[in-house]
Amino acid sequence: MQKRDQIRILKELLRQLDEKVNVDAGVQLKNPVDDYTDRALATEEWQRFFQEHPHFVGLSGDLPETGSYLCIDDFGVPVLATRDPEGRFRAFVNSCRHRGTRIASEPRGRAEHFVCPFHNWSYSNTGALRGVSRERDFGSVDRASLGLIELPAEERYGQLWVHPQPGGRLDVDTQLGDLAPEFASWEVGQQRYLDETVLAKRLNWKLANDTFGETYHFARLHKDTLGRIFYGDALDYQTFGRNHRFVFPSRGIDSLRGKPEDEWDVENTTTVLYYIFPNIQFAVKRNSATLVRIYPDPADPCDPSRSLTRVSHYASEAALDAERDTSRTVIDSNNVYDPTARDGNAVFSVEAAMEVFDSTVEHEDYRMGESTQRAAESGALDYLVFGRNEPALHHYHNTFREALGRPPLEPVEGPRREHTPGAG
Ligand code: FES
Ligand SMILES: [Fe+2]
Repeated sequence: MQKRDQIRILKELLRQLDEKVNVDAGVQLKNPVDDYTDRALATEEWQRFFQEHPHFVGLSGDLPETGSYLCIDDFGVPVLATRDPEGRFRAFVNSCRHRGTRIASEPRGRAEHFVCPFHNWSYSNTGALRGVSRERDFGSVDRASLGLIELPAEERYGQLWVHPQPGGRLDVDTQLGDLAPEFASWEVGQQRYLDETVLAKRLNWKLANDTFGETYHFARLHKDTLGRIFYGDALDYQTFGRNHRFVFPSRGIDSLRGKPEDEWDVENTTTVLYYIFPNIQFAVKRNSATLVRIYPDPADPCDPSRSLTRVSHYASEAALDAERDTSRTVIDSNNVYDPTARDGNAVFSVEAAMEVFDSTVEHEDYRMGESTQRAAESGALDYLVFGRNEPALHHYHNTFREALGRPPLEPVEGPRREHTPGAG
């Protein structure tokens, strides 16, 4: 992120904290609960947003060397992503051209070639069909036309993108829009993949997404966890087409007061969280990144009540080296922030940060989302209210609606004025 953007954002957050004001969307909106429970809508979303839409599937660190591979099974088409001998990121349908069997079964690993478990045909990690067992008996096979089916794949700004249809249009710059140069500046391609947590939960994929769309809940829901590390009621929010940038301050922002602006940095003073349409939440720092991918439950994607979230963590070599040198954990085993450490800056060990993130999302945020899902299904509520301090919720939901040709959310009407007879 450009220095001038960092300074502008930090100034805005300090202003909000000083003046005790928050971001303001200027209006409250009503979101019909049917959006979380309607099977016909879920079916349309699955088709439009997942089966026909490009997907951000990981970072360059997921395929760290030639021969690395990755299986992706989140949006219908089984995908085998590889880094070929030339270092190129490729994606194929993970399905043998003989009888369609899955050819790679481990979620990730290293392989120069893949051998089908059914009748032993083999493919290289460029997708080429190499070996056909007992070809004399089987009959001759035209290898050139029976390689793995290739999918559009692009690696850009350290991000891996795939289109699930062989003829699909994939242009990462189009997906990222005006955020593209900012993503280039983070250099996440240098970061190493560390770990992934998978949350299969009983909540609609949009409700899962909603938990990342406001910090209003920090003071209550996360009062013993993130609420100790971050200020919840201050937010710098900017939309970029269908995407957005959402920056909120950690308590470390206070250390900037009195420091010259050219020493200001968003790194240890804020969380920079991007939303990339339709299902990505991406928290980025120069030394670490967390990629959250949210899907309808792939086992029954048209069931609106279930979703699957993948939380993947990455860190730079520099961060991992620093961690080996010294213990920098400032949260204890109960996830309690120690504000006396390092001038109040939230400096975590990479591992502790991962644990806090995963357990907070699972045990705090998604529990709330699951209870909202049950209430929505009960039929007792017509709509939920998105506040003026929750602009990301306004943006997501209106974006989903716009993409499906539905009308935007309606505002909550202001308090009714009593009509005094004779007052005109
Ligand atoms: S299905 Fe793969 S070799 Fe027969
Ligand atoms: Fe939360």
